[in-house]
Amino acid sequence: MEVDILNIIYDSQQYLDSVALRNEVFRKPHGLDIKDDDLSEDESMDMYGAYIEGKLIGTVFLKENDSVCVQIKAVGILDEFRGIGLGRYLLEFIENLARKRGYSQAKLMARVSCKDFYIKLGYEAISEPYNYKTIPHLDMTKSL
Ligand SMILES: CC(C)(COP(=O)(O)OP(=O)(O)OC[C@H]1O[C@@H](n2cnc3c(N)ncnc32)[C@H](O)[C@@H]1OP(=O)(O)O)[C@@H](O)C(=O)NCCC(=O)NCCS
Repeated sequence: MEVDILNIIYDSQQYLDSVALRNEVFRKPHGLDIKDDDLSEDESMDMYGAYIEGKLIGTVFLKENDSVCVQIKAVGILDEFRGIGLGRYLLEFIENLARKRGYSQAKLMARVSCKDFYIKLGYEAISEPYNYKTIPHLDMTKSL
């Protein structure tokens, strides 16, 4: 299966597709709608999509916080494409990009239900669990 990772341009059709995917993956399962989110930060992020035969199946975003640390956001894979290594592939892609840009630290806000996924990829928890949009999360970090 060939997977292409492509840069998503803000306000393009690909961007609108990424909003729809995030709604499916992050909001709808919890009875929420991404229409209620403030997405203005997206414009300042590096957004990437994973495509299989032209279909967007996952996203990962990079936010450059300061000269040392990046924040990784929007790590999500469509339900029917989970469990075959694509989440790992996307995360390693974005970590490599951050390393090439000279960053030495990554942080992210993980759902508690995905904590062990991130632990497998070398992240450690740096906060107690807290609720974000009613869903339990925790902050995690990794040295790149
Ligand atoms: C979390 C998510 C990105 C993982 O993507 P994926 O493509 O299914 O993960 P992979 O197939 O690359 O899995 C990599 C490893 O992590 C493990 N893993 C995946 N999801 C896991 C989870 N929720 N809990 C524990 N382990 C998990 C896999 O079993 C695999 O282990 P292995 O290397 O020993 O075989 C995906 O399940 C998802 O999009 N979930 C819903 C959205 C979400 O909550 N995203 C995270 C926001 S913090």
